[in-house]
Amino acid sequence: MSATPSPAFLDTLADLLGPRGFTTAPADLAPWLTDWRGRITGAAAALLSPADAAETQAIVRLAAEAGVPLVPQGGNTSMVAGATPDASGHALIVSTRRMRAIRSLSPDDNVAVAEAGVILADLHDAAEAQGRRFPLSLAAKGSATIGGLVSTNAGGTQVLRFGTMRALVLGIEAVLPSGGLFDGLSALRKDNRGYDLRQLLAGAEGTLGIVTAASLRLVPAAAARSVAWVGLDDTEAALTLLRRIEARLGDTIESFEIVPAEALRLVLAHVHGTRAPLAGAHPWNLLIEATAPEGAADPRDALTAVLGDAIEAGLVQDATVAASEAQADALWKLRESVSEAERVDGVAAKHDVALPVSAMPRFLVAGADTVERRFPGVRVLAFGHLGDGNVHFNVRAPLGADDRAWLAAEGAAISAFVHDLVGVEGGSLSAEHGIGQTKLAEFVRTASPARLGALRAIKAALDPAGIMNPGKLLP
Ligand code: FAD
Ligand code: MLT
Ligand code: ZN
Repeated sequence: MSATPSPAFLDTLADLLGPRGFTTAPADLAPWLTDWRGRITGAAAALLSPADAAETQAIVRLAAEAGVPLVPQGGNTSMVAGATPDASGHALIVSTRRMRAIRSLSPDDNVAVAEAGVILADLHDAAEAQGRRFPLSLAAKGSATIGGLVSTNAGGTQVLRFGTMRALVLGIEAVLPSGGLFDGLSALRKDNRGYDLRQLLAGAEGTLGIVTAASLRLVPAAAARSVAWVGLDDTEAALTLLRRIEARLGDTIESFEIVPAEALRLVLAHVHGTRAPLAGAHPWNLLIEATAPEGAADPRDALTAVLGDAIEAGLVQDATVAASEAQADALWKLRESVSEAERVDGVAAKHDVALPVSAMPRFLVAGADTVERRFPGVRVLAFGHLGDGNVHFNVRAPLGADDRAWLAAEGAAISAFVHDLVGVEGGSLSAEHGIGQTKLAEFVRTASPARLGALRAIKAALDPAGIMNPGKLLP
């Protein structure tokens, strides 16, 4: 049971953190109380912005003593309301906004040590300035932070080649629920000192501690990149194309993203400065990116050749390969604007599902068909990371329905239905966004007792008072 912070407790924190690190002003708190999708609004007693790990430790110690819940927050771009406090008003939001230093960036080690509040796009820029690259990107890169990305084990658009955040985190510094500092930043490639706390904290969604910094793997900057947009009729053909491209270009292929016609239509309708990439509309579109390091052949010729062959063979119907960086950026903007365009268009029952890659082309069509027959009038919009077997299988309200009332009435039944379909295929109901609040009931419904029991035991052992992000990931 969480405690309401007393006035004396809040005064202690105000003294500790000073005016830059402590506020209870409703106007300061308001932007951080609602999730990105605008579905859930909570309340908090204060917004705390510690300057460093030592201040974070002091906050956690005080909160643990008083039994006051803490909600770690980075850019608040969570897709599952993971950084949104509950409605009780007991919680303190701990924002990492003041921990924005890149402590070091070593081209020799291929490692950057970034504090939790570093914005992803800033890390990209810093790495590029040193001839390196941090190979994880997503549409929220202008707001999402390293702490949030680590804590959700974020995926994004390059997982096909580089894996999720867990594959890129070499070390972590975090304040544990006891207030102790886990000083695990040393970026050793080999370290067998028992349980891997770094990997436990990655993907923990703030329930096991507050990440204050991370050591991150860098790769050589790409000397050349080639971006293509492909129009096609058939999802099975997409997978055939992926395997053909891999056979020709090897692992230089990094992104293989699928966008249905309706998602492209929404982007073109709602997002300023976008225009159709191909002459005609196609049921499905792919965005493909391949890169090459210094000295290797530019992937453009090989990609153009494979796509030419694919068109000739009738596998795909049309394609364009960007002829400049500006054109490549314009193609990426179409893909990266899908969430924003969908948000403007209205609410949806959102699903973030993973399946074996080979099952995904069939699921995109048959799964959508099954859902649309079971819930007449709903419109499935599925897009995302086809190359790594993860799509955002969103279900929109019937045309003309009151979106929010429809979601309240039908959302839970639709999600259960979708997740059961995914379960039959051996898939996951959370590929990359985490569980947070919005997937919690479904996670508990579908997870095995062994999985839930192990997670609960870990949580109870590390956070016996239950102060770290309560109500997220575990009930
Ligand atoms: P927040 O939203 O602030 O927090 C996310 C979770 O991490 C919460 O549970 C929070 O409590 C916890 N947390 C935050 N900071 C810390 C910390 N320092 N220590 C401990 N816990 C912490 N995700 C993907 O995986 N792939 C995508 O392609 C993708 N695309 C997106 C596109 C858009 C437009 C948006 C809005 C979101 C997208 N996301 C995607 C979702 C989101 O998970 C990521 O943007 C990112 O991982 C969240 O970072 P953040 O700093 O905003 O974290
Ligand atoms: C994406 O791939 O664009 C995202 O994860 C965001 C979303 O699911 O809307
Ligand atoms: Zn995604």
